[in-house]
Parts: sequence; C-alpha cells; structure tokens
Amino acid sequence: MERKHLVVLSGAGVSAESGLRTFRDSDGLWEEYRIEEVATPGAWARDPGLVLHFYDLRRAQVLHAQPNAAHAVLADLEAHFRVDVVTQNIDDLHERAGSTRVLHLHGEILKARSTADPTLVVQLNGPSLRPGDHCPLGSQLRPHIVWFGEEVPLMPLAVSLVHQADVLIVVGTSLQVYPAAGLVHAAPAHCPIYLVDPAPVRIEGRRVTHIMRSASEGIPLLAEHLVTGKPLP
Ligand code: APR
Repeated sequence: MERKHLVVLSGAGVSAESGLRTFRDSDGLWEEYRIEEVATPGAWARDPGLVLHFYDLRRAQVLHAQPNAAHAVLADLEAHFRVDVVTQNIDDLHERAGSTRVLHLHGEILKARSTADPTLVVQLNGPSLRPGDHCPLGSQLRPHIVWFGEEVPLMPLAVSLVHQADVLIVVGTSLQVYPAAGLVHAAPAHCPIYLVDPAPVRIEGRRVTHIMRSASEGIPLLAEHLVTGKPLP
C-alpha cells in the first residue's frame, strides 16, 4: 500500500526549544531589530555590514543549537509516512535531526549566494560572512536568505507539495508572513490540518485540530496519534 503523504509547515516555534528565538513572540527578534534595517534589499543597499552582522549572530546561534524532540520525532515519522518538511526556518535543525526532504522557503543561514547570480549558492565554512567575501564570479556574497520584499522562489514547489498532502501539520508559526502563510489554503479539502502551537493562530475557513502545546510536547503526542490512532489528549 502506498504510504500517506504528510506535509509539515514549520516556523520559528519548532526551534524555540533549541534556544533559537522566534520573531514575533514578546522576546522575539523583531522586538530588538527593525526589519527594514536588517532584512530587506534596502537594508543591504544602505548598510551591508549591519546586515552581515545580524546574520552572523544568527549563524553563530544556529551552529551552537541542537535539534529538539520535535525535530527528532518529525524525522522519525519518515518510517511511517512520506514526509516533506516545508520550513520557514533558516536553521538546519530538521536536517540534523534526520529529516531527508526539507524545503527552506526563506533560505538557509549556513549558505551564501552571489549578488551577481542568485543561482550561485555556496556553503559557508566559517561562522561569518564579511564585506569583501566574493563568489567565484568576483561579486560580493550575501546571506542565502529571502528578505522581506523579495520573491520566494520555492513557493511553487511548496504549493505543489501541500496540494498532494494527505495530512498537514503546521507547527510553530504565527502565519503572519505571506506567501508562506497562504500554504495552508493549498491543502486539499479532505486533508486534515493539525496545528501545534502554545498560542492561538488564526486559520480562516478550515477546520483545524489545535494542539495547544509546545512543539517538543505536542509533536510527539500528534505523532503517536497519527501512527497508532491513540486519541489526542
Ligand atoms: N513550540 C511551538 N510553537 C512555539 C513555541 C514552542 N516552544 N514557542 C513559540 N511558538 C510559536 C508562537 O506562538 C508563534 O505562533 O511559534 C510562532 C512563531 O511565530 P513567528 O515568530 O512569527 O515566526 P514565523 O511564523 O516562523 O515567522 C515567519 O517571518 O520574520 C520572518 O522570515 C522570518 O521565517 C520567518 C517568518
């Protein structure tokens, strides 16, 4: 029998218990930094050094962080389902936990790309990226991150994955940033949607089973439910 297709849409909350701050919670990153100063093409044009510093800090934290139980259990679900993780996160914690199919909608902090050719992406060896670090074409490297106001090149692929989902898990995202937030509406009508988040999250027009727990508590409960049929608490 063909295995069910499970799609996971994850956000910063899934990495919160690994010590990586979310963006919009009360201690979130956007309380400390202004988006326009560090995460837009305009910011890069005005002050690339500041932008590089902001992402250097993020990269150092990611390099020290470890996957938590939520990442691990999502990876283990590959034993039972065909699992695709569509993440808004720029860390590599899903991969380090063992997930094999991960789509990074908003880019990857451990990579950089050429400012001359966006398809020229390189793995970073060290923790920092500096003004003067050049791609093989001789142009400045920038963080391999999708900034506010930029296209999300992997959206069509993400939409087609969610279109095919038999089960959708939404975990640790406030669903405030589009187009990623719109992915929930690409799920087929028959596809159950499970939401794991300790806070209320609005999803209009769909029936959603909300497990109001942290990712490391909620994902194991949900996984057991999906694998064994054990009722959710
Ligand atoms: N477990 C699960 N969810 C949690 C936890 C936790 N331990 N802690 C917080 N959360 C939830 C919050 O309740 C919130 O709903 O995680 C969500 C985090 O929301 P945001 O900070 O808005 O992060 P996210 O939705 O991933 O942001 C989307 O915005 O700034 C941009 O590009 C950035 O990818 C990011 C995008």
